[in-house]
Amino acid sequence: MLLRHLLPFLGLAVEVLATHSTYLNPILPGFHPDPSCIFVPELDDTYFCASSSFLVFPGIPIHASKDLRSWKLISNALSRPSQLSLLNTTKRATSGIWASTLRYHDGTFYIFTTHVFDDYPKNATNRFDNLVFSTKNPYSSSAWSDPLHFNFIGYDVSPFWHDDGKLYVTGTFAWEVSPGIQMFTLDLKSGAVGPVHNVWNGTGASAPEGPHIYHRDGYYYLLIAEGGTGAGHMVSMARSKSIDGPYTSNPNNPVLTNANSTSYFQNLGHADLYQDRRGKWWAVALSVREGVDGSYPMGRETVMTPVTWERGQWPVFEPVTGQMSGWWLDEEDVPRRGEGSLVTAGDDVHFIPGEGFKPEFVHWRFPVPGSYVVSPKGHEGSLQLVSSESNLTGHDGRSAEPKGQTFIGRRQVDSFFKFGVTFDVKELQVPEQEVGVTVFLDQLHHYDLGLVISSNASAPILRLRGITTVPAFISPTIATVPVPSSWRVSETKQLAFQIRMSNLTHYTFSAGPVGKPSLMQDVGVAPGLGLTWGFAGALVGVYATSNDGPVGFKTWVRNWKYDGMGQIVD
Ligand SMILES: *[C@@H]1O[C@H](CO)[C@@H](O)[C@H](O)[C@H]1NC(C)=O
Ligand SMILES: *[C@@H]1O[C@H](CO)[C@@H](O)[C@H](O)[C@H]1NC(C)=O
Ligand SMILES: *[C@@H]1O[C@H](CO)[C@@H](O)[C@H](O)[C@H]1NC(C)=O
Ligand SMILES: *[C@@H]1O[C@H](CO)[C@@H](O)[C@H](O)[C@H]1NC(C)=O
Ligand SMILES: *[C@@H]1O[C@H](CO)[C@@H](O)[C@H](O)[C@H]1NC(C)=O
Ligand SMILES: *[C@@H]1O[C@H](CO)[C@@H](O)[C@H](O)[C@H]1NC(C)=O
Ligand SMILES: *[C@@H]1O[C@H](CO)[C@@H](O)[C@H](O)[C@H]1NC(C)=O
Repeated sequence: MLLRHLLPFLGLAVEVLATHSTYLNPILPGFHPDPSCIFVPELDDTYFCASSSFLVFPGIPIHASKDLRSWKLISNALSRPSQLSLLNTTKRATSGIWASTLRYHDGTFYIFTTHVFDDYPKNATNRFDNLVFSTKNPYSSSAWSDPLHFNFIGYDVSPFWHDDGKLYVTGTFAWEVSPGIQMFTLDLKSGAVGPVHNVWNGTGASAPEGPHIYHRDGYYYLLIAEGGTGAGHMVSMARSKSIDGPYTSNPNNPVLTNANSTSYFQNLGHADLYQDRRGKWWAVALSVREGVDGSYPMGRETVMTPVTWERGQWPVFEPVTGQMSGWWLDEEDVPRRGEGSLVTAGDDVHFIPGEGFKPEFVHWRFPVPGSYVVSPKGHEGSLQLVSSESNLTGHDGRSAEPKGQTFIGRRQVDSFFKFGVTFDVKELQVPEQEVGVTVFLDQLHHYDLGLVISSNASAPILRLRGITTVPAFISPTIATVPVPSSWRVSETKQLAFQIRMSNLTHYTFSAGPVGKPSLMQDVGVAPGLGLTWGFAGALVGVYATSNDGPVGFKTWVRNWKYDGMGQIVD
């Protein structure tokens, strides 16, 4: 009793004494771009973030945190093909789900986002499908609604509920057509959109986008990204006494950027702001960790930085680095609810009967139903895959393959990691049938180590090949070696595969007999630079294909393990 009464005072004393704490960036490593985060006191003082998913399914991952350091995947807002059936038809890897804004209003969570058909002309009126998903329970993927579609020919939509009772939405037009931040009202019941008007064009850099509005001390603050999502990326702000404007640019813009710096964290921009339990301000943004060779295969990640925001003043953002000192943070605590694991937890999956898929597991577009079965009868403790005719590239490298692409993977979230699985390959018989492991960015950027039935060799071969559009690259086939007879694969019908990040720049692919780690043999290496492209980030996973052969086959994956082996943050 006494202790319970004393605790608040002790807590206060600690707060007064220790004003800063340290943490590491990125807070959401790997493919977690365009972050949008909120603090929800009503849900047990919890922080929530959404990030973009492009063509990966399930999509729009939602992470929660109690301490702003450990982040748990709690649901995927896009988890049913019926929510967005056209995602299958979108061409080009930069299409799909672009930036989301996550907000909490009147007991409901909202995600405002855009399904972009990036292969359509920039001025096509059907290029952007704007969407609102909602739920009262963010901890459950199935609780997220089907989307409300609303008509705005732009992207990066973000809601702001005004005291006047109206919902204002900001967004941006395709900058090649008509740059500028736009605003309109939206009726969430009917989807009716009010007149669209241009509120700010930024400071003059290209691609003003990613707008969010914050109301504070009598001002409406408009935060945007500018300069494009590459080297010139930055965050700028403007403010106005009226929601409609006119907006005055902050004389200290940009408020956050690593452009023209030698920081390991590059392309910094696309921010969102929220207050913590003590009222201190923080920003999240996207950034890439760019190696000396210019590579960042993990893509755009989520970083966090403290912000000082005095009454009536412009907010001041701390520069983003790997080792951060921020506002005082609560003791470490992990959200108990939710479907997934901490983002850094790794995998040790044994496909137990009755176990579903981890929410961390993703496909490229929608999975073909029945091609992925956990622990089927006779093959307990395995993931059964049915091969697709198409390989991971497919026929034009940019469209959904009519009969799907058999692939399941998870995000690479560590600078150094080891990913391993074993395959049962007894059904592989016909030339060009292939199973293996891949580092996959998109259909035109991936490396695959497969066991392949060869037409001209007596034994199956191990083939490491890849595809990329990044210039100055390798030949498609990196290595081809016969499977050593000492591995006795023709008798055991099993093979182990592994991918690891062997040094700062290269992936190493290896294979060996199951249960004999000392006999694992490196087949070849491939540079991360070949996967440094576009808007997504590397996934590691497994695939099964007949390479256009008419005969399908089954294969069984076991012992799925992903271990983080270290993060580089400077
Ligand atoms: C889009 O731009 C193209 C090329 O400039 C033009 O031919 C076409 O009419 C435009 N379409 C619309 C819908 O504005
Ligand atoms: C943005 O730029 C357009 C085109 O140059 C211009 O017509 C418009 O007035 C500008 N908007 C603002 C708010 O300054
Ligand atoms: C970076 O340098 C270039 C070239 O000097 C300049 O045009 C650009 O404005 C700079 N960007 C920032 C954000 O300072
Ligand atoms: C994949 O299949 C296509 C034909 O569907 C073929 O052109 C391509 O070479 C294959 N390669 C890879 C690396 O996936
Ligand atoms: C999506 O594509 C897969 C593979 O082509 C197909 O099996 C599935 O039926 C499609 N789903 C929808 C909802 O269009
Ligand atoms: C099989 O034949 C193809 C094409 O003729 C050749 O590129 C490949 O190296 C051969 N593979 C083996 C294992 O001999
Ligand atoms: C990583 O390993 C590859 C292959 O052995 C080599 O070409 C590359 O230079 C190495 N990179 C670094 C940074 O050591």
